[in-house]
Amino acid sequence: MVVFGTRPEAIKMAPLCHKLLDQKDIKTIICTTAQHREMLDQVLSIFKLTPDIDLNLMKKDQDLFDVTSNILLKMRDILKLEKPDMVLVHGDTTTTFATSLACFYMGVKVGHVEAGLRTYDINAPFPEEYNRQSTGIVADYHFAPTDLSKQNLLTEGKNKDSIIVTGNTVIDALNLVLKTIDIDKNKSKNITLRMNKLLLFDWKVTRFVLITGHRRENFGQGFLDICEAIKEIATKNPDVHFVYPVHLNPSVQKPVNKILLELDNVWLINPLDYEDFVYLLKHSYMILTDSGGIQEEAPSLGKPVLVMRDVTERPEAVEAGTVKLVGASKENIILNIDLLLNDENQYKKMSLAHNPYGDGRACDRIVKHIKEI
Ligand code: UD1
Ligand code: UDP
Repeated sequence: MVVFGTRPEAIKMAPLCHKLLDQKDIKTIICTTAQHREMLDQVLSIFKLTPDIDLNLMKKDQDLFDVTSNILLKMRDILKLEKPDMVLVHGDTTTTFATSLACFYMGVKVGHVEAGLRTYDINAPFPEEYNRQSTGIVADYHFAPTDLSKQNLLTEGKNKDSIIVTGNTVIDALNLVLKTIDIDKNKSKNITLRMNKLLLFDWKVTRFVLITGHRRENFGQGFLDICEAIKEIATKNPDVHFVYPVHLNPSVQKPVNKILLELDNVWLINPLDYEDFVYLLKHSYMILTDSGGIQEEAPSLGKPVLVMRDVTERPEAVEAGTVKLVGASKENIILNIDLLLNDENQYKKMSLAHNPYGDGRACDRIVKHIKEI
């Protein structure tokens, strides 16, 4: 059984679900908690995936208690009914944590995809670092994306035979989508038409900064500072545009709409489906984000990424030079965007394409290992 609930888990698990469904000797059940709803459905539709079980749990403005307790109780019933030999979970969300805990209570084996990422600061990212560490404690198989994540797990004393380095399935998903856009000229034409309606500037020619943000530890003053920084830099650079698909979390929507709505060169749009987002990523000048997945995707496309966090569990691209941590301080964000907009050498240094996260065959490796168990 594969269980996921949010947008990024779905993107990273979709190619794996398809690989598993192709295997005649494995029965695969796809279960979503629907911790996200609209943003999850966008991914299901792009990857043409229909869950066998949809717990439909999302509530507007849910808190961690709602999500954790609802998933735990529902998963008890699902596991009793379906009796899976193994449950695959992904990464570090509350869906991942609560599902793996339910498996532990029921004695069901857990395979953890994207295992071993660590900041070792339990509060950053919050609550994801806790989620991934606790999932690591109960997991029987750790599908680690890189050698560094394997090393983290070994240092924690995990059995080396339970750790398989696979690459990150996000590269499988990214390659799949880039290939379909490349092959199907109608697709890129349609994406262009959709974007032309949303972005009333020549976005294929004019420089634009692509922005996303949703981390809980940035809620409150952090988001206000981030928005003030974007406002100041946008006002100072009227020839540059700022495209921001705003996460549906009300704690994000409120400050963003309050501070950034009226600016001529800032485009606040709804979350994009994955194909549209990747296309925009390809055409952007640079990225400002606190996302995990985008830190892995953008380096493959040679786009500089400024990450609005103090620490990252994905140091590979920071070491490679494409990603830079800038925190959520207004001054630091302004300073670093300014540098990339105005210093050609700095931009060139950060925009060399790197891909420390795999060759797009992570799903093959995971399925092969599962078959050998
Ligand atoms: C969650 C994950 C985070 C992940 C992020 C990806 C946890 C604790 N957090 O954070 O690790 O990086 O997803 O985006 O697991 N909402 C909608 N429609 C949607 C999705 C969200 O309206 O399709 C709104 C709802 O009001 C919901 C709120 O956003 O209650 C928060 O969603 P939740 O999944 O609890 O937190 P995220 O901040 O999205
Ligand atoms: N993404 C998307 N549409 C958007 C913004 C992001 O499809 O409007 C994709 C992005 O390419 C990446 C994933 O969503 O694969 C990241 O999701 P998010 O930032 O919500 O979560 P995180 O990766 O931080 O857990």
